[in-house]
Amino acid sequence: MKKAHSIVVNLPEKQYPIYIESGLIQNIGSEIKKIYVNKKVFIITDHNVESLYGCKIEDSLRKEGFVVKKVIIEPGEKSKSFETLMEVCEEILEFGLARGDLMIAFGGGVVGDLGGFAASILLRGIAFIQIPTTLLAQIDSSVGGKVAINSRNGKNLIGSFYQPEAVFIDPDFLNTLSERVFNDGMAEVIKCAAIKDEKLFYELLAYDTKEALMNNIGQLIYTCCNIKKNVVEVDEKDIGERMLLNFGHTIGHAVEKMFHYETYTHGEAVAMGMIAITKNSEILGITEKGSLKLLIELISKYNLQIELPYMDEDEFFKALLLDKKNINENMNLILLKKIGCGVIQKINPVHMNKYVGLNKEGE
Ligand SMILES: NC(=O)c1ccc[n+]([C@@H]2O[C@H](COP(=O)([O-])OP(=O)(O)OC[C@H]3O[C@@H](n4cnc5c(N)ncnc54)[C@H](O)[C@@H]3O)[C@@H](O)[C@H]2O)c1
Repeated sequence: MKKAHSIVVNLPEKQYPIYIESGLIQNIGSEIKKIYVNKKVFIITDHNVESLYGCKIEDSLRKEGFVVKKVIIEPGEKSKSFETLMEVCEEILEFGLARGDLMIAFGGGVVGDLGGFAASILLRGIAFIQIPTTLLAQIDSSVGGKVAINSRNGKNLIGSFYQPEAVFIDPDFLNTLSERVFNDGMAEVIKCAAIKDEKLFYELLAYDTKEALMNNIGQLIYTCCNIKKNVVEVDEKDIGERMLLNFGHTIGHAVEKMFHYETYTHGEAVAMGMIAITKNSEILGITEKGSLKLLIELISKYNLQIELPYMDEDEFFKALLLDKKNINENMNLILLKKIGCGVIQKINPVHMNKYVGLNKEGE
């Protein structure tokens, strides 16, 4: 039986629902009608999602009397740029956007981050809905209101906190993901489990086939969204608890940047980042012995790279220090105390080497 889940994210200035249900896209028009009274709907999506699901969403919206305008971007991280943002904003304005209109970000994390950021600045902020179509977007990026584009200085450095009106998650979208994009999302699922949910971590270890995992995918998405909701509710603006979600990201972002966002996907880089940091925090006695082995065992199941690639150390540290999560002189690094329990540790950048273990140092 297809089970539906829902969650409400409660923030001081906004409350919004997350719905998780297989087949939800079939009736998305009537779902949106329940929460949106105007007629015009702007969809931002990418070419891949458009060719697979563009007609479905459009038909369902039109059936309910909505007037639909679409902006379709190139798939991939490169679209989180000023140039694409400008094109998207201009196209939407040319369509005759008004304050009360709605935007739908329909796609993976790239579309969600770019579309959400555009929604936050167009006419000083219009309502938007997230309909995430990748695993990563369904369990992570569509929830919590972080929207951004990349700068040549680093990832997600230009953005806002801007919460959606609702998030509609249809796990059926995952059936068309390539293995690589699916596994990329699994890296963020593993991250969630590693920092917050020991039970989920062992559950993931116990799945021996993708089929077994997919049989429980709705519940898995629900568990991860709940983890994110709880973290975001106590720290919407990412100055405390929310930083835990950056486990593996400081190194991961630097790897992505070093390889110009081309060689490694976000999840692949995060997976290497989680391992690199845990290797050292275990040696330093911060992380319970055996955690690294478990992390490697789980990450290996999803064809994700374990070892950091070779990188020029000076360049790597430059990229790493640009990460926006570093407040003042100290860096906030996320480490595991043990599986299921992440901690935030303030570290003076001069000691970074001990934690990063780049190019075999620190081993
Ligand atoms: N805002 C946040 O809190 C947050 C959190 C984590 C990651 N992110 C961001 O998310 C981005 C990565 O997101 P992503 O991994 O979803 O990448 P993505 O959006 O680039 O999607 C990956 C690929 O999958 C394709 N695709 C999407 N849905 C599909 C479907 N159902 N079937 C087949 N193909 C499909 C896309 O066209 C693309 O080629 C990064 O930019 C990262 O920084 C943001």
